[in-house]
Amino acid sequence: MEEIKVDGVETRDRENPEQFPDVSAVVLDQLGEWQKATDCNSLRAEDVSKEVVLMGWVQRRRDHGGLIFVDLRDREGLTQVVFDPQISPEAHANAENLRNEFVIATKGKIRPRPEGMANPKLPTGEIEVAATELRVLNTSKTPPFHVEDEVDVNENTRLRYRYLDLRRPKLYKNLLLRHKVAQLTRGFFNDLGFIEVETPVLTRSTPEGARDYLVPSRVNPGKFYALPQSPQLFKQLLMVSGFERYYQIVKCFRDEDLRADRQPEFTQLDLEMSFIREQDIYDMIEGWIERLFGEIMGMRVSLPFPRMTYAQAMDLYGTDRPDTRFGLPLQDVTSIVAESDLRVFKQAIERGGIVKALRVPDGARLSRKELDDLTEFVKIFGAQGLAWIKIQPDGWQSPITKFLPENVQKNLTDTLGLKLGDIVLFGADQRKVVNDSLGNLRVRIGQSLGLIDSQAFNFVWVTDFPLVEWDHEEKRFTSVHHPFTSPAEEDLELLETSPEKVRSRAYDLVLNGTEIGGGSIRIHQTPTQERVFRTLGISSEEAYEKFGFLLEALQYGAPPHGGVAFGLDRLVMLLSGSSSIRDVIAFPKTQKATCLMTGAPSDADLNQLLELCLKVEAERKK
Ligand code: AMO
Ligand code: AMP
Repeated sequence: MEEIKVDGVETRDRENPEQFPDVSAVVLDQLGEWQKATDCNSLRAEDVSKEVVLMGWVQRRRDHGGLIFVDLRDREGLTQVVFDPQISPEAHANAENLRNEFVIATKGKIRPRPEGMANPKLPTGEIEVAATELRVLNTSKTPPFHVEDEVDVNENTRLRYRYLDLRRPKLYKNLLLRHKVAQLTRGFFNDLGFIEVETPVLTRSTPEGARDYLVPSRVNPGKFYALPQSPQLFKQLLMVSGFERYYQIVKCFRDEDLRADRQPEFTQLDLEMSFIREQDIYDMIEGWIERLFGEIMGMRVSLPFPRMTYAQAMDLYGTDRPDTRFGLPLQDVTSIVAESDLRVFKQAIERGGIVKALRVPDGARLSRKELDDLTEFVKIFGAQGLAWIKIQPDGWQSPITKFLPENVQKNLTDTLGLKLGDIVLFGADQRKVVNDSLGNLRVRIGQSLGLIDSQAFNFVWVTDFPLVEWDHEEKRFTSVHHPFTSPAEEDLELLETSPEKVRSRAYDLVLNGTEIGGGSIRIHQTPTQERVFRTLGISSEEAYEKFGFLLEALQYGAPPHGGVAFGLDRLVMLLSGSSSIRDVIAFPKTQKATCLMTGAPSDADLNQLLELCLKVEAERKK
């Protein structure tokens, strides 16, 4: 994933004075009584000879044998305006001053474009407006990049001039789509009796696995609010309050390492319901997605969505967010290759690891160089190497064949269903390393061999997550979802003896390999909540210090409840076919969590720091 550098932003316009057009000749006009009743995307052949007023930005100006053509743009599209000295010498003279991104209003008559000059790519391409009047509403500096979709400009420059970037049709369309998704979502849940409740932004820590953003309190010196990582605790409290169905489209804040699908502040569709089981959540969410796709994308999704347990997902795909648009399942071959003489396999198995194989039909055509690249790729995920076997007409071609006795070869052929032209790739290591490396390798190969249908939307519910996992750094169990997630009833007895075997009542919805939503049925009884805290190595003192308000609330008649939260940005990113979450957020941050336009985060002045009792920083600045 590319790294965005904060510096290196183009500042052409500052350094290069000829970038400033001489606009001294331009006389600026007022809007006067003119109304913007027509947009730049709506005029058609049947409108010919009507008089219209158009307003917008100059996309491009072309001078042709005495005529001046302007592509006029507004948020809806483009219309060609012609300034003809025969029609209005005044407007034509004025139009000579126009530059890209000037803001104008123009009155004129619609006429068909001359024979052979229609532009079939443009909805308004059959007509043009012959201008009778021009009002220049504002000038513009030469923009640092041309405002159009097919423009090759680095993302830093786009983010620095985000207001110009947002003039591009693609970004406008993305935000329009986002708006539609939000409106439909509100309507859908309103109709089902959910009510939208706003929860605090200045609050206490909500554990969702990331670091908190802290806000110092002036009136309580030395104390800090945390910005919510999610409204998790408040939505559970609303269930205790008897609200039964809550939702919110809400900002969440997480200080974590950023990726193409993560932002430090992002938006969730967050919801919670009382008196429900998992199935109720699945039904509700499937109904919502069906509506979204039907009404916004004009597509049918087939319901119910397939389900897969966490264990199945890890086995087959090496990840809990499987991209199910293509095959290439992983297969565990530990017991087969245990009988081989290959050192890398034997050692991995002796150390309690596993060996998995990835059979790629038609993969024998991969070159040595490509295989070396794939080997480097898996090393990113901690693998030591990547063993391979090509099934060629003259037999197996591989650096490891000689270590595989005949019975192992036969067993591999039968189990993996090996065919001529295949390649098999092997990972041997601890389970996590093998799953990570082969899971990612599978996706990479799927992409490079063109096995992924980019038009497809494949949903899958992943269920039965483990409740906890061992954290090697902290040397304790931590929650896989969050500490308020209910253990599966039938595993409860293992909570004290083998917590790692306890399954939780958590579920994720995965779309094309991206986790778009996750939730769980919650613990609603204090004794269970206390047992889970004990398992997590959280003392009851610490638990009461951090979440005492929730633990107390559970003691006042908490109903059984559960919910889910969706990453709205991620969902819109996938719906719009964008490769970055930044393309669906109006004013996003870089991978370094900065805003190149406003310059946030920025220094605080000394007085602010003193007032907040932030002494160290205040002293350094003095
Ligand atoms: P979770 O932490 O899984 O669950 O978050 C829910 C969804 O939010 C999205 N998401 C993000 N999107 C963009 N940038 C980020 N940094 C980011 N982090 C998360 C993902 C994810 O699936 N309170 C629980 C929900 C619950 O239990 O009801 C929660 O927040 O799409
Ligand atoms: P070596 O014995 O180190 O020369 O490795 C023989 C082959 O096994 C090479 O193709 C290596 O890339 C591959 N290999 C090495 N370590 C591993 C591993 N942990 N898992 C899978 N293949 C490996």
